[in-house]
Amino acid sequence: MDDRNGWGRNRPEPTGPTLDPPETFAEQANVTDAVDDQPLGEQFERNWPECWERAADLLTWNESYDTVLEDENAPFYEWFTGGELNAAYNCVDRHLEAGRKNHAAIRWEGKQGERETYTYQDLAVAVNEFAAALRDLGVEEDDVVTIYLPMIPELPIAMLACARIGAPHSVVFAGLSADALATRLDAADSEYLVTCDGYYRRGDAFNQKSKADNARLSVEQDVETVVVDRLGDELPHVLGDGESDYHELREAFAGASVEPVSRDAEDMLFLMYTSGTTGDPKGVVHSTGGYLSQVTWTARSVLDIQPEDTYWCAADIGWITGHSYIVYGPLALGTTTVMYEGTPDYPDRDRLWEIIDRNAVDIFYTAPTAIRAFMKWGEEYPQRHDLSSLRLLGTVGEPISPGPWRWYHEHIGNGECPVVDTWWQTETGAILISTLPGVDEMKPGAAGPPLPGIDVTVVDEDGDAVDPGQTGYLTIPRPWPAMARTLYDRDDRFRAEYWDRFSASNAGVWRYFSGDTAAVDEDGYITMLGRVDDVINVASTRLSTMEIEGAIADVDGVAEAAVVGRSGSQGSTQICAYVSAAGDQNPNDALRESILERVETTIGPIATPEAIVFTPELPKTRSGKILRRLLEDIANGEELGDTSALRNPEIVGEIQSEREQP
Ligand code: WT7
Repeated sequence: MDDRNGWGRNRPEPTGPTLDPPETFAEQANVTDAVDDQPLGEQFERNWPECWERAADLLTWNESYDTVLEDENAPFYEWFTGGELNAAYNCVDRHLEAGRKNHAAIRWEGKQGERETYTYQDLAVAVNEFAAALRDLGVEEDDVVTIYLPMIPELPIAMLACARIGAPHSVVFAGLSADALATRLDAADSEYLVTCDGYYRRGDAFNQKSKADNARLSVEQDVETVVVDRLGDELPHVLGDGESDYHELREAFAGASVEPVSRDAEDMLFLMYTSGTTGDPKGVVHSTGGYLSQVTWTARSVLDIQPEDTYWCAADIGWITGHSYIVYGPLALGTTTVMYEGTPDYPDRDRLWEIIDRNAVDIFYTAPTAIRAFMKWGEEYPQRHDLSSLRLLGTVGEPISPGPWRWYHEHIGNGECPVVDTWWQTETGAILISTLPGVDEMKPGAAGPPLPGIDVTVVDEDGDAVDPGQTGYLTIPRPWPAMARTLYDRDDRFRAEYWDRFSASNAGVWRYFSGDTAAVDEDGYITMLGRVDDVINVASTRLSTMEIEGAIADVDGVAEAAVVGRSGSQGSTQICAYVSAAGDQNPNDALRESILERVETTIGPIATPEAIVFTPELPKTRSGKILRRLLEDIANGEELGDTSALRNPEIVGEIQSEREQP
């Protein structure tokens, strides 16, 4: 792995004063330490890996497993082998059988103020009907169904319908471009797509189907497509060959019931594409048994979800956070999960607080990027509403510095709700590092200790554990149930990206490398410091700098581009692109526009650079390697080190004097 950014830059900020878990919270928490006075972590350690049966026990299995962990073929670990279950059954049917059919499963808050509640019974009807329809369209067990939908109820319904018939889903974030969808359809050889006509973005109707159409045109296979009519007359659309209407299908299969397919624990539940070190996205493969067990366990132990709660994770289901903690975890626990469409500032900056107030939300889970925005907007917005229903707050996606942490704790949690800062990744499937809210003291700025059963080691270049207070690479020396099983069709890349660097495979030692840097303190609390690879977390969304560079380099008139992350306020990251124009061209506004447009059409608006700086040349070593590290220092206004290794040191001054423009 190219450690071009190094990890010397980031130093852990001192954490804030520690806070004990509030007593009133601890008294009611799902998970406490007190089993015969033995801390949970110790209980897990004494009995590892069998301790994970505790997670598997939260599910209903058709066939019980023989082996908890099968590690013969590491790093392709298997969990709960021999076991069989169905994820949709666990998230829907079993709650009906438990007499909770009229309990609200999903509360949906639409962009235009629409509201819908799906009880578990309603959800069962929808999932069965759509599962029947998918089968009728030809979907068979193990066929990958791509879902390209915004935050509307049909998204989780489609996911669960797939799970019911054993067809892995591959959800593509609705804001991604036609090109991005095509890449994912192609990579997974997916012949089925569920999408919609369009959706509202800041009040405007936005055409999704035309993006889906373009993607279908650019892949080789035929793609049977289901279209959800979200906008009605607002955006009329015509269905062509190989396209059917979601609502008509539901009607055609009204009242259908589809037996949930019994899946092996190791069968793929879904695929999720994410950014990696090279340009093309990686298809992270998640299992059925291990994934669902650990996601359900962490939803219960870390997010403290109880069946009678109204729980809200304000993420998008198009990313892993939404898969694990809007859909699978909360529904497996039989709680009410809120999903909302839109943005926190539309129609006004109190949208989220209004939703919490009206739904009496108990648990709220969001990202630091949102919290920084709330902070900037000011406390008057939350103050307009009664937030006293809240019991627990969570954050995920990026490091949260002590300032925003405290603001969240005080202004949203009234100084009373514990805050869990949860570290995990698309590849980990479930939360791995966090405090247990009823047990552990909180240190604002540090995510917390590894959860019971999880082993995390921060190591130096040679793989040796660093001393407390030192920074290093975050590695995980032991497998865990929800871990990615492989990258779709790319076992080799799976090993290369996550295992090769810190494993000694000859000696049978396997160690997962997260791509993150971190520091660990005397108490074993881990402070996350950011990525070392070509991945940047912008607005809590993971992007590949190389993918963005590739898009920019495709623009006519661009010779070369280098993209780096730059620190914004309160620990945010912004995308900064350094671009040299081809020939003697003078870079102009038209070129700038083309670049912005190209990034938007090849990846999506989330990847749009905050700043583009034109430079006659990029700084390069004598061997021609772009020195991104130096550009990162320039972007961050840091003092520059020795530039003598450069072939073109004179360029540094030029870049620094270049006035950047958005
Ligand atoms: C990367 C994974 C799975 C959650 C959503 C993002 C960063 C995630 C934290 C946290 C500091 C965090 C890491 C990680 N990250 N949570 N609590 N503190 N950093 O999933 O898109 O796969 O990104 O997000 O850098 O590697 P993802």
